[in-house]
Amino acid sequence: MKNWSAPALICAALLITATTVVAHQGATGVVKKRMNQMGELKEAMKAVGQMLKSDDDLNADVIAATAQAVQDNAGHHLTSLFPDGSLKKPSEARPEIWKNWTEFQRFADQLKAAGERLGKTASGDRKDVAEAFKELGQSCKACHEKFRLKSN
Ligand code: HEC
Repeated sequence: MKNWSAPALICAALLITATTVVAHQGATGVVKKRMNQMGELKEAMKAVGQMLKSDDDLNADVIAATAQAVQDNAGHHLTSLFPDGSLKKPSEARPEIWKNWTEFQRFADQLKAAGERLGKTASGDRKDVAEAFKELGQSCKACHEKFRLKSN
């Protein structure tokens, strides 16, 4: 912290806020909440992804924290952020969610299971972590392809 001047810190904070606002233009209520939570998952995943790509030793704490964050935002924690017909702009959720609610729930449960698996491998070897991480990424993607307008 000592190396950071206060103005520099404020600038950095403003930059982060500005980016978030642009990404969620006008989102409010539960739509804003779930966009923020999904955004946090993406950041947590990025940290593990970059670690796996680098030659550095894996940090089991970071992996475990990511696995926990996923579990805390999966299963019913995820589905509860999708009350019936909550499609207020700029939501990218597809209306099919509420027509195929059981399937949507299953994706949310699969996400939880994938988070648990990553948690168990956190201090394991690189290959196990990489496999669990890949499975987790596929779990995000599977739901997005079916239930999100812009799938990535
Ligand atoms: C059960 C389905 C489901 C799963 C599993 C899921 N998502 Fe999503 N995700 C959605 C839906 C639906 C939206 C669109 C929400 C909206 O715009 O109202 C979304 C939106 C997002 C967004 C965009 C947020 C924004 O600001 O617009 C990101 C980033 C994201 N998800 C990341 C992830 C990551 C990373 C994972 C896995 C760790 C994941 N999601 C797992 C359904 C899911």
